[in-house]
Amino acid sequence: MNYRHAFHAGNFADVAKHVALVRILLHLRKKDTPFAVIDSHAGRGIYDLASDAARRTGEAQNGIERLRGLKGPEALERYLALVEESGDRLYPGSPLIAAKMLRPQDRLVAIEKHPEEAATLKQVLAPYRKARAEEGDGYARLAALLPPPERRGLVLMDPPFEAPDEFESAAQAVKGAVRRFATGIFLIWYPVKSAAAARAFCGEVLASGAARALNIEIAVDAAEDRLARAGLLVLNPPFGFDTDMRELLDVITPRLPGGKASLAWLAGKP
Ligand SMILES: C[S@@+](CC[C@H](N)C(=O)[O-])C[C@H]1O[C@@H](n2cnc3c(N)ncnc32)[C@H](O)[C@@H]1O
Repeated sequence: MNYRHAFHAGNFADVAKHVALVRILLHLRKKDTPFAVIDSHAGRGIYDLASDAARRTGEAQNGIERLRGLKGPEALERYLALVEESGDRLYPGSPLIAAKMLRPQDRLVAIEKHPEEAATLKQVLAPYRKARAEEGDGYARLAALLPPPERRGLVLMDPPFEAPDEFESAAQAVKGAVRRFATGIFLIWYPVKSAAAARAFCGEVLASGAARALNIEIAVDAAEDRLARAGLLVLNPPFGFDTDMRELLDVITPRLPGGKASLAWLAGKP
């Protein structure tokens, strides 16, 4: 496990993922009934954008740093407010964003396998009574945590994709998770290094039988050794999510170098 998200925090792919996360959580908050968020690959929860790791790649410079102060749809402004309130040079990861958006009746379980990252995550989430950090294998824990008793909620799956067979493991894990929690919303991040591998992954995930699946791709100009394209596969997206994401990405992508985004329904009617 060499992957450290500190090198990539706040990059274009994080921004797209975290705006989508906020949009989904805003939707879940519309009803009083409780919801659960399961973040299977949570990371450390907070990232120092002035750290050696962040400065070495400079990825946040072509991500969050291009968006600060931007006005736009509710999910964008809420996301930017959450980033600002983290502090000057700090960037919140997915579990911290989710923890901050929980109501008293909601719940977050955030799982992180790397012991040091998990230890930091535990500290970061300690102030949030309804958020729990676990050190463990997110894929294995999904089997135990789904379906959540709330029967409403989101599974965020954001693996590092450093192992050659991670597409396969992720697809198998999603299939099992959808079988257990067919009505859940699933937000799955993946890198697009090869269009064929990305297509195969989406096809494999769709074999889970998910009734509705929206695929979002975002691309930027990047140095040859950096990720330039990433995808978000959203199963059972909330009503209006596609239109809202289009609108959000239309505001965000012009700020990113060579920024482009596309949305396509892979299953189910919009
Ligand atoms: C892309 S980062 C997560 C970023 C985070 N979701 C965010 O948006 O802020 C992936 C994380 O998964 C962790 N990880 C790797 N394999 C894992 C596994 N099997 N279960 C749980 N976490 C794992 C890595 O240590 C890394 O911190």
